Amino acid sequence: MAEQGVNHGRRRFLTATTAVVGGVGGVFAAVPFIKAWQPSARAQTAGAPVIADISKLEVGARVIEMWRGQPVWIIRRTPEVVAALASQDGRLKDAQSANIEQQPDYARNETRSRKPEIAVMVGICTHLGCSPTFVPEMLPQAFDGEWKGGFYCPCHNSRFDMAGRVYQGVPAPDNLRVPPYFFIDDNTIMIGLDADPKAA
Ligand code: FES
Repeated sequence: MAEQGVNHGRRRFLTATTAVVGGVGGVFAAVPFIKAWQPSARAQTAGAPVIADISKLEVGARVIEMWRGQPVWIIRRTPEVVAALASQDGRLKDAQSANIEQQPDYARNETRSRKPEIAVMVGICTHLGCSPTFVPEMLPQAFDGEWKGGFYCPCHNSRFDMAGRVYQGVPAPDNLRVPPYFFIDDNTIMIGLDADPKAA
């Protein structure tokens, strides 16, 4: 399935290339090479990696990409949020990311991420699969008087901090999952691969 999708994508790319070169040949050089990597929607559903442009992602905001039919959240955390993460360790079930199935090795750190300010995680509650609500404000909430920002699942009141770490005393058993990903450049993330296979 995935190969079919890639082939379709390549065919479209070649068609587009022909049209551009035939019309205004010089413009071809300006077509971002990165576009050639974009798989079709069908291939994305089947599991192909997805490219996320975070150039317009503001500090404190979140963008959602779909990968393997799942929402992947990308958040540009504020310095205050990053600094507050350690203060939550004593309230969490797995502050040190001991469950190795919930993140790649490069995300087994204090921020569960490759870069402290950029969080990447699958937005599905580890209890029964609801989609938690993004509550970035570092203010007391009705569900947590010591809230430092994070995610609240309204289905059965599970809470996760801004690194996707689950709090104690809630039904969700595990931290939110961190998918494989790497930075193509500062503003571009490849979701679904740990590293650029062409660089191996
Ligand atoms: S599905 Fe999130 S708490 Fe139950």
